[in-house]
Amino acid sequence: MAKAIRQLEENLHLVDIVFELVDARIPSASRNPEIERLIKDKPHLMILTKSDLADPEQTQNWIKAFKAKGLPAIAVDSKANITTKTVTKIAQSLLAQKLSDEAQKGLKERPIRAITVGIPNVGKSTLLNRLVNKRVAQVGDTPGVTKGQQWLRSSSKLSLLDTPGILWPKFDDEQTGQELALTGAIKEQRFASDDVGLYALHFFRTYYPDTLVDRYKLSEADQELSDVDLLLKLTKQFGMKDDYDRASDRLIQDIRKGKLGRYTLNRMGAVEDD
Ligand code: G4P
Repeated sequence: MAKAIRQLEENLHLVDIVFELVDARIPSASRNPEIERLIKDKPHLMILTKSDLADPEQTQNWIKAFKAKGLPAIAVDSKANITTKTVTKIAQSLLAQKLSDEAQKGLKERPIRAITVGIPNVGKSTLLNRLVNKRVAQVGDTPGVTKGQQWLRSSSKLSLLDTPGILWPKFDDEQTGQELALTGAIKEQRFASDDVGLYALHFFRTYYPDTLVDRYKLSEADQELSDVDLLLKLTKQFGMKDDYDRASDRLIQDIRKGKLGRYTLNRMGAVEDD
């Protein structure tokens, strides 16, 4: 982690703007709290990835909440559509002053240099691949760029560093860990499946009860059960006898694959328009 932070700090000197990626389903849990300190006052665009999996209303609330904090934000679905034009335009508007100062000094127009930063699995490579049309190696021309690093040309006006900045998620509390586990941000088994399964059941019963009822054909009596009893009932329904860890894994997979619909685990209340 210390090495990753050092590399990110070095790379930050090379760029004009940071694209910070967070998972639209967990915009809070997937943010490393160190990032603000590292980025300092460098222009910064929040990109909410995997918005195709998140609750659209919540995504809008989050975008407004970030904007209210002075952080411009957009949501993307990198698997389907990501408009290089939109990202380029936003980067240009955030850097308008710097670019006009350079033009006034008579400097030649150049592409904006950006880096993507985020926790593992948040979608950095997918977004990079989407944004990039062709590779342009400029290593020789760029002082300070580590050998092997390259600028990837997104458009004539935007270049991206090919090495994304990686930060690890921080989870001091159990719930954040469960949110990361449920969305697949943490792949390894750091959490007991049944704990994550119970957290998921409780969450969906609270915020998206109808999708749970529809997916697993829950009766009215099922809906009255406690979370633990409902997990036991689903375990039997899945034909897994009393192996509720396996049943939890099945529930987790269903949720990750979007079989229970779009959801946002980190809830954000409505934010007033300016
Ligand atoms: P990273 O570089 O930050 O580590 O993440 P990466 O791009 O490798 O993406 C991690 C997983 O998230 C991949 O799925 C990728 O397809 C998926 N992903 C990235 N962006 C989006 C998005 O906007 N929407 C959706 N639905 N998924 C996204 P995977 O299962 O690991 O691989 P794959 O089989 O999908 O390629």
